[in-house]
Amino acid sequence: MNVIIETERLFLRQMNEDDFDALYLVLSDAEIMQHYPYIFDEKKVREWIKRNMDRYKENGFGLWAVCLKKTGEMIGDCGLTLQNIDGKMLPEIGYHIRRDHQRKGYAKEAAKAVMDWAFMNTDYPALYSYCKYTNLASIKTAESIGMSFEREYPDEVNGITHVSVIYKK
Ligand SMILES: CC(C)(COP(=O)(O)OP(=O)(O)OC[C@H]1O[C@@H](n2cnc3c(N)ncnc32)[C@H](O)[C@@H]1OP(=O)(O)O)[C@@H](O)C(=O)NCCC(=O)NCCS
Repeated sequence: MNVIIETERLFLRQMNEDDFDALYLVLSDAEIMQHYPYIFDEKKVREWIKRNMDRYKENGFGLWAVCLKKTGEMIGDCGLTLQNIDGKMLPEIGYHIRRDHQRKGYAKEAAKAVMDWAFMNTDYPALYSYCKYTNLASIKTAESIGMSFEREYPDEVNGITHVSVIYKK
């Protein structure tokens, strides 16, 4: 099943086309995606899965499916991707958790495990998280795993983008 990471309540595995229904519930939710420039339709969710499957091959990592150990159900994604942050390609920890499973510590648990994985399995000296400056849940999740404010910069998509960082010890 290509499990990459196990935590107390979750496992993270590579996503695949069969995850479409579960991921659609997460990414097409207008409330969840309120800080994004658009809501995901069916085509965008399929592209999201394909892009991450390509990333596994190209980079050895990507956004992985976040699944509950108890039921096996996929409730979101979390992982490492390379993102253009203020003009530089940098390793970024990203996360999306289905609305009915939010505020239970799942994003924090998954993101912390991804951070540990990345420091163990890559040579990156720092890991980043970035989002629109109004996305408090995302910023708080980054800070909950030990990241801190790095900078804010203006950009076309977000208006202002907020960047959090953690350095390898
Ligand atoms: C960001 C997101 C993944 C957080 O998921 P979650 O599972 O609810 O987060 P957790 O329960 O693990 O909480 C992590 C931390 O953030 C805080 N937090 C979570 N949601 C919050 C909110 N809406 N407002 C304030 N703080 C919030 C929690 O209190 C916790 O901090 P603590 O450990 O210091 O108490 C979820 O809100 C989401 O999917 N948002 C939409 C997608 C998105 O914007 N992703 C990030 C863009 S890259």
